[in-house]
Amino acid sequence: MISQLESLKKFSSVVADTGDIDSIQKFSPDDCTTNPSLIFKAVQSNKYKKLFDEVLANSKSRKFNQLNDQVDYIADQLAIAFGIQLTKIVPGYVSTEVDSDLSFNTEATVEKAKQIINSYEQSGVPRNRILIKIAGTWEGIQAVKKLEAEGISCNCTLIFSITQAVACAEAGAFLISPFVGRILDWFKANSSKDYDATNDPGVESVEKIYNYFKKYNYNTIVMAASFRNKEEIINLAGCDKLTISPSLLEELNKSEGELDQKLSQNQSSQIDIDRINVNESSFRWHLNENQMASFKLAEGIRLFNKDLLKLKETIREQL
Ligand code: E4P
Repeated sequence: MISQLESLKKFSSVVADTGDIDSIQKFSPDDCTTNPSLIFKAVQSNKYKKLFDEVLANSKSRKFNQLNDQVDYIADQLAIAFGIQLTKIVPGYVSTEVDSDLSFNTEATVEKAKQIINSYEQSGVPRNRILIKIAGTWEGIQAVKKLEAEGISCNCTLIFSITQAVACAEAGAFLISPFVGRILDWFKANSSKDYDATNDPGVESVEKIYNYFKKYNYNTIVMAASFRNKEEIINLAGCDKLTISPSLLEELNKSEGELDQKLSQNQSSQIDIDRINVNESSFRWHLNENQMASFKLAEGIRLFNKDLLKLKETIREQL
């Protein structure tokens, strides 16, 4: 009998959502995504001490004006070092996220993205293997527009609304990551309604985005992210890509059975969907009107920044 993971692979490209290099090989994912929280978590593990020590040692051969510059440099190089290892395991893309505190600064985001790509290229990893992850703020999306025009592919992350998704696609984003689980988290915390596999608002958000993109023939890849349970993934079988944590990959791998395709270009093209026009003021207005999306976007930026600061503290302790 086929595993649910193998069955899922017939409809969607499966991506591993982790910084834990050793945990994903057996699932043979196509790509890999990381974020500052996942990198911080991986650095805590003894398994990656050698990698951490190597990055620290390499930084000592460079000159820095201040300790903070060295710490910032090491934090960047650590995310890249994990990314390099991941490119050796997956055949496709590895996503590396820019610092969350740049989420409202287009120019600084562009500059940081170019530094990341240069570091990868200097280590022999071509830019066509890397996606730069940028938060789906208006400023972040303008950075994506500039980077895509210069041949740097981006993964727009922390997508909680159709408005953000359409703005990313209009900006020419290579890929977007609409979050599922964090939307469910918000609705569970803010309503008395019961949610199960039949009315999961995170799944509904991805369905809406996927249908819109396919209906209007956008090339931007839809990669659903942030899953809380196996059912969310199963209900999105057919989405272009699904980025899944090692524990849920394991669950899917252990469960047997053929899955049904839930999303398809053909089905989406037959649905009546009104066109959405997004410009800066409508983007800001719709996001502001959407309590869940504006809260989750802001919180997501705060949480990634918090983990990046914790990573920098760990680095400082080692210097
Ligand atoms: C991947 O790109 C996302 O950063 C990740 O799926 C977030 O997952 P979480 O909501 O479980 O933190």
